[in-house]
Amino acid sequence: MNRVYIKTYGCQMNERDSDAVAAMLRARGYRIVQDENACDIMLLNTCSVRDAAEQKAIGKAGYVSHRKKHQPDFVLGILGCIAQNRGAELLDKLPDVDLIVGTQKFHQVPGYLDNLRAAREAGVPIGETIIDIAEEAGSQNTIKDHFVSEDAAPQVNAFVSIQQGCNMDCHFCIVPKTRGDERSRPMDEIVAECETLARRGVKEITLLGQIVTSYGRRDYAHTAGVSPFVQLIEKVHAIDGIERIRFTSPHPRGFKEDLVEAYGRLPKLCEYVHLPMQSGSNRILKAMNRPYSRERYKEIVDALRAVRPDMYFSTDIIVGFPGETDEEFEQTRELFEACNYDMAYIFKYSIRSGTPAAELGDQILDEVKERRNQVLLDILRKNSERRNAILLGTVEEVLVEGPDKNGLRFTGRTRGNRVTVFDADPRLVGRLVPLKIDRASVSTLYGELQLAGVESD
Ligand code: SAH
Ligand code: F3S
Repeated sequence: MNRVYIKTYGCQMNERDSDAVAAMLRARGYRIVQDENACDIMLLNTCSVRDAAEQKAIGKAGYVSHRKKHQPDFVLGILGCIAQNRGAELLDKLPDVDLIVGTQKFHQVPGYLDNLRAAREAGVPIGETIIDIAEEAGSQNTIKDHFVSEDAAPQVNAFVSIQQGCNMDCHFCIVPKTRGDERSRPMDEIVAECETLARRGVKEITLLGQIVTSYGRRDYAHTAGVSPFVQLIEKVHAIDGIERIRFTSPHPRGFKEDLVEAYGRLPKLCEYVHLPMQSGSNRILKAMNRPYSRERYKEIVDALRAVRPDMYFSTDIIVGFPGETDEEFEQTRELFEACNYDMAYIFKYSIRSGTPAAELGDQILDEVKERRNQVLLDILRKNSERRNAILLGTVEEVLVEGPDKNGLRFTGRTRGNRVTVFDADPRLVGRLVPLKIDRASVSTLYGELQLAGVESD
């Protein structure tokens, strides 16, 4: 009765939350299994950001709940954003769900499972579904440290949550509703977590939040023009053992001179920035309630390239926001091309009920969204191929993460966040090694490690 399978939908924050739930469950004696057919408890950690993501998780829950017919003790839980967004209403469609736990209550999951399990073992008839989607005071700290238990694989890179929620109120976005108000974790706790991770061998830290550039704005003062977020980066930078720092996601509004300048003086800060643009039309940006212009956006990109000419960029774009005309899309295309992204997440606008944009008329036809999507994807593919061609024959620093998908070779990422695949000795996992790139597909670089001169342990 203690085998748990966790399926995660959506963003890195969800991945991180699932990892934390898994660690808490292991610490309580549960076993985390990789085979969904061999579990007693299935937890779906869900995403609400677009309709397709919601449908996928709800469909899965409906399908899996049939298992109760032949496995009566089976426990099914829905966690995260859909749970938060829909709460008890989920039971209309999914009456057999045992547990519905919102985004501020992940830390309660082990306790709830203990209760459900005890009831099952005592033969108590299956009662009401447990639903907990309340707000939690101090919830910026409820998912705290990465507990690492014996059976967890050694970690090379880690996501560290620095902030929960978002107050930006972009008019298309459900996240402020599913993740609640913006709350920042205390700086010394974040630094302490990073120090612990470094002692356990973690080399790369990704600081996570919905709008990391606003980190600590209510809790800490600027010092000599340096924002609390940059102060935090400086502190993580000072930790021995941490070799690479990334963060996601900044907001163009908060991307000020101090952060640009940090790239010039903090070498551990990787030359890769994910900077959501959403649209290249000033009118659409305004309608989205995104407080910057296309000109300001481009200025940030140019300033970063001036400080680090080898900077890699990725972005988020929404095509087909209500009322987006061909000319407005053309502006997005133009800015998209000008920024020369290495990676991009391009989304077709999806109506999210309860958001201001859902009330706008003038929805864009699906086929138009699809066409616009393809235009940007084509540019992205060409950019990626161009970038890869430049990298052929060069030597890049790679952090060896572990076996690749097929388990035959090894994988790791460059500082610019490109995925690489190569042959390696397992003892190199967790090491920074030079890789000579000799082949590339659109999304992956292949090469040979250059180990002469790299001392071995
Ligand atoms: N600040 C967050 C954004 C979370 S949502 C971050 O850390 O990335 C991720 C992306 O989903 C957004 O940047 C946006 O491009 C996209 N998105 C959000 N709401 C959407 C909607 N209603 N339709 C389509 N895409 C959406
Ligand atoms: Fe969503 Fe905008 Fe915040 S995209 S997460 S409301 S910055």
